[in-house]
Amino acid sequence: MATILMRLTEERAANQYDRWIGLLTLGQASAMRNYLLDSVVPRRGRVLDLGCGTGQLLVEAGRRGATGVGVDLNPRMLKLAQERCRRYNLKRRLRFFLGSALSLDIEAHTFDIVVSTLLISELQPKELERLLQEAARMVKPGGLVAIGGEGEVRAGLIGAFTSMIRRASFWIVSKLTTLISHPHHRVAQAMKNAGLNPRYKVSFLQGMLVLFVAEAEK
Ligand SMILES: C[S@@+](CC[C@H](N)C(=O)[O-])C[C@H]1O[C@@H](n2cnc3c(N)ncnc32)[C@H](O)[C@@H]1O
Repeated sequence: MATILMRLTEERAANQYDRWIGLLTLGQASAMRNYLLDSVVPRRGRVLDLGCGTGQLLVEAGRRGATGVGVDLNPRMLKLAQERCRRYNLKRRLRFFLGSALSLDIEAHTFDIVVSTLLISELQPKELERLLQEAARMVKPGGLVAIGGEGEVRAGLIGAFTSMIRRASFWIVSKLTTLISHPHHRVAQAMKNAGLNPRYKVSFLQGMLVLFVAEAEK
């Protein structure tokens, strides 16, 4: 639900994205990012961030000692990522490319971890499969693939509320953009189809956001 509204922000007001993502996910986007940085991303590892947006995750990983590459399809989001990178003087450690995460022109099997947060809700099921194939192609043997996206809050009042907002947001998006947005599902199965081994998942705010972590074959 939140990522559908975020799509509008990316398209129409990229410079407001960071503020809106916090509000629309009730702070859970930054909770997921902090979890990744503290518990999943290797400190001195080489990181690939697919759909890197304004570079919040990758730049913070760079500040903690990682090197890496960010890829995003939206030049406005990418420009903000590059500015953030320059602000922290990380140009030697990080690179940002304009392009599709579904078809990468980067040397294969060179990353310790491939991350992608809040991109998959914007992808069609076939594109999700493609994203995971690319992630599997980029990660080193034994490396990690961490995919975070919108989940399904099933129970109680929060569930009823998010389901109502989700239906309303789909309607708004279909009126204002040419893109179709989908909640993600069957990520673990798509990981297996790509030859990755799903290891665990972490839920944020009763499943509002979910992070799936898989390992590549050694
Ligand atoms: C909801 S934002 C998430 C940004 C960031 N990862 C975060 O967690 O804040 C989704 C991002 O994915 C990008 N995107 C969408 N489709 C893409 C694709 N096929 N390849 C690369 N980036 C894509 C959008 O431009 C946008 O910046």
